Amino acid sequence: MSAFAPRVFSGVQPTGNLHLGNYLGAIRKFVALQESQDCIYCVVDLHSITAQLVHEDLKGQIRSITAAFLAAGIDPKRHIVFNQSRVSGHAELAWIFNCVARIGWMNRMTQFKEKAGKDRENASLGLLAYPSLMAADILLYRATHVPVGDDQKQHLELTRDIAIKFNNDFSGRIAAAGLGTEIAMGDETVNGYFPITEPMIEGPATRVMSLKDGSKKMSKSDPSDLSRINLTDDADQIARKIRKAKTDPDALPSETAGLAGRAEADNLVGIYAALAETRKADVLTEFGGRQFSEFKPALAELAVEKLAPINAEMRRLIDDPGHIDAVLKDGGERAGAIAERTMRDVKEIVGFLQ
Ligand code: TRP
Repeated sequence: MSAFAPRVFSGVQPTGNLHLGNYLGAIRKFVALQESQDCIYCVVDLHSITAQLVHEDLKGQIRSITAAFLAAGIDPKRHIVFNQSRVSGHAELAWIFNCVARIGWMNRMTQFKEKAGKDRENASLGLLAYPSLMAADILLYRATHVPVGDDQKQHLELTRDIAIKFNNDFSGRIAAAGLGTEIAMGDETVNGYFPITEPMIEGPATRVMSLKDGSKKMSKSDPSDLSRINLTDDADQIARKIRKAKTDPDALPSETAGLAGRAEADNLVGIYAALAETRKADVLTEFGGRQFSEFKPALAELAVEKLAPINAEMRRLIDDPGHIDAVLKDGGERAGAIAERTMRDVKEIVGFLQ
């Protein structure tokens, strides 16, 4: 084969509610990509037990992320939507990658250090191996492109390192089995089984910050619900949170340079621009010189216009778990068929009897 067919893969953990930051930073991008690409979107339930083993309602969380995917406009017929634990190849390939990756690579991951905190000895082994499972998610489908938030950049670099090491360590066997594909690496072309995945990282424009502190990312773990707009919030809740969002006493500037040092103003203008699909400069052309008392109602109206239909559809879907489960089952079967071919090749390359 010469060159890998383009394929998009991404995953979202079923922990906590999705919020505006997840929508603008990830899910909206997933929806846009499906117009031109072959996409696989996965609810990564195996990842969700790495930091916390027992969840009160994991099934409900898995359904809720799936509902958000569908409500936002992802088409599960033309593309694949499924939950990770349904396809055993994720765990199988992750095991092989645990033997490809080095402990030192895992120890360097900033997300591991943050999540494990001070008591590293007491973190689960799964939390340490998390990026190896993430590499397996992507490479099980030999995905070439992965849209994610910038906090996942280091994990994607590790995915590339795992693919490169696997391709190198097994280069002779890959060639002997006739399973190599041409990969352009700088000026050279090498042969490998796994593609060297390209990250598609969200730009700073779609980085949504807390409504209560413009220096912190909007997060599902923030104790204050007023800090974020959840995809399950209805029109009244959305409007109320924007009304209560932290601001400063000055009017909006007419140019983006005037947003420097005004984190909350910058964030609200950024949210407006992202929702309206324009640039901050265009928002300031319209609102420069106006007070927040005028800007906030306009922002609330726009947010409600864009998010309320998604919210309504999400609620409708959550009330129909049978439909969601059928979507995941069908997606799991189609993902499983691709995964099975990869695992057959990988077992052949590693040298297992099958
Ligand atoms: N680690 C990702 C996150 O927390 C979720 C994830 C798991 C993922 N597997 C993936 C994202 C594969 C992209 C591709 O956001």
